[in-house]
Amino acid sequence: MSKSIMITGGAGFIGSHVVRLFVNKYPHYNIVNLDALTYAGNLENLKDIENRENYTFVKADICKAEEIENVFREHNITDVIHLAAESHVDRSIADPMAFIMTNVVGTVNLLNAARKAWAGEYDQHRFYHVSTDEVYGSLHDGGFFVETTPYDPQSPYSASKASSDHFVRAYANTYGMQTVISNCSNNYGPNHFPEKLIPLCIYNIRHNKPLPIYGKGENVRDWLYVVDHARAIDVVFHNGATGETYNIGGFNEWKNIDIVRLLCKVMDRKLGRPEGESEKLITFVKDRAGHDLRYAIDASKIMNELGWQPSLQFEEGIEKTVDWYLANEEWLQNVTSGNYQDYYSEQYEKR
Ligand code: NAD
Ligand code: TYD
Repeated sequence: MSKSIMITGGAGFIGSHVVRLFVNKYPHYNIVNLDALTYAGNLENLKDIENRENYTFVKADICKAEEIENVFREHNITDVIHLAAESHVDRSIADPMAFIMTNVVGTVNLLNAARKAWAGEYDQHRFYHVSTDEVYGSLHDGGFFVETTPYDPQSPYSASKASSDHFVRAYANTYGMQTVISNCSNNYGPNHFPEKLIPLCIYNIRHNKPLPIYGKGENVRDWLYVVDHARAIDVVFHNGATGETYNIGGFNEWKNIDIVRLLCKVMDRKLGRPEGESEKLITFVKDRAGHDLRYAIDASKIMNELGWQPSLQFEEGIEKTVDWYLANEEWLQNVTSGNYQDYYSEQYEKR
């Protein structure tokens, strides 16, 4: 039987790369991109595939049960890959409720719709929930997050994602739904909304604006190129064992300050600025509340059991990312007009 896969959040950063990969690689699948088009959703991300026969976009909100049930019926959905979420930690600190609504209530709504649509034949359908390494909390010494690390979320964002992971496992256990979960480290690459560290710094370097580093810039994140995450999602969706969890990451830890310095160096070269010019924009600002110190994923399970490997080294990925942003000024202009400016002043001007 051919599949009709609902990919939620497909107009967002990671979702758009997953949609593109599936539409191109699986012409016999029907790909339904369900997205509410919040500030983070942008159909410009999918211009290159929007007219493909195996692709449909549906504007709908995962918090609205009836809308979701209709999409399951109308498109005869056989599987779900769920990425729709509120995804920015700083916004979750300012407004936790939006995160509880989308990430928790929205996910449970989606599970309920799938449960109803697939009743009596759960073994023929898969519900894949895309989550984050932030559910495991913050590492202070050495060590890595493995799939059995106890959950210890520290921000409203990670608490909402942890809660949604628990609901997915509860639905598998209680109703017998066939689920799989992956928890990935920080992604970077084209189409990343410029509220997150890397695209925000690229944008600010380009426009000679201060580069706001929280605290001392000593916090460590483990970065993966977004296309490699999309490739991992493909592998887990098709070959991951039912009920299992897979950690995804590139064994690529960087302190924030070192990433920002690397970006300055790369941008100086590409913009023809004297070496060291952009580093002058670095500005240390008040730390994020409850700022997690370090994330680091042990991705051995997906590498050993499913044969997935990241394809790009970080420096190479950063070059590609900077090139994309420099070649897509219009995309950046569009997403940074309007509400973005209000968000930016609220978030940074008083710091
Ligand atoms: P994003 O913020 O770029 O995109 C989220 C998408 O979800 C947007 O298109 C938005 O319009 C849509 N959306 C939001 N609320 C919705 C709703 N109520 N109904 C329907 N659609 C809605 O996020 P992202 O960075 O692409 O992250 C995608 C997923 O991957 C999230 O679940 C996130 O938790 C997870 N994740 C992200 C990272 C990362 O580094 N960005 C790392 C690991 C896991
Ligand atoms: P971010 O991209 O928001 O991802 P996350 O919080 O999910 O890891 O932030 C990455 C790191 O960069 C994190 O330690 C916070 C820090 N940061 C800054 O120092 N300045 C900024 O303006 C932003 C957005 C993040």
